[in-house]
Amino acid sequence: MLCLKCETNPGWIQSALNNLESVLIDHAHCEKKAAATGLSLLSTYPEKMEINMKMADLVEEEIDHYRSVLKFIEKRNIQFTRDTGDPYVKELLTHLHNNEPERLLDRLLTAGIIEARSCERLQLLAENISDPELKSFYQALSSSEAGHYVTFIKLAKLYFPEEKVNRRLDELTNIEREIVVSLPDHPTMHG
Ligand SMILES: [Fe+2]
Ligand SMILES: [Fe+2]
Repeated sequence: MLCLKCETNPGWIQSALNNLESVLIDHAHCEKKAAATGLSLLSTYPEKMEINMKMADLVEEEIDHYRSVLKFIEKRNIQFTRDTGDPYVKELLTHLHNNEPERLLDRLLTAGIIEARSCERLQLLAENISDPELKSFYQALSSSEAGHYVTFIKLAKLYFPEEKVNRRLDELTNIEREIVVSLPDHPTMHG
């Protein structure tokens, strides 16, 4: 569960398994946006070398995930379509502070929370899907996203006092729980 305060709604996994094409398309967009988040962070805070280095690694990994999901889409003759948006992430990001340095803390923590939720969903897919190829793919990706969660929390603790990080993580995970329970069980990575 990493830092998360609730499990995914039980209806989500069935919705996802029944609409695997939609999940794959949305998943590809999520990986691309995860890479974009890494690029945005290293562009906004170039003076923070640890952010530069860790985000350079993360961008590479997320693009690698993106390429892998695209290969599944291509192999299965699925028509790749435009990103229809992610209401979960959109709502979560409305809770960021506007002023620095609080904004940096919030950006690192929300990125970590999104990684944690993605890790949980990928694990659910790995456990419930019968397709052996996708099962091992989701399993591997889930571990990778867990590692990204740890990276973001470590970065937060490098630049902010641990107590402040824990307090804000507690607030943001409460907000995330409210978002997760209120969302319909759409066949997308974040529902
Ligand atoms: Fe990823
Ligand atoms: Fe990730």
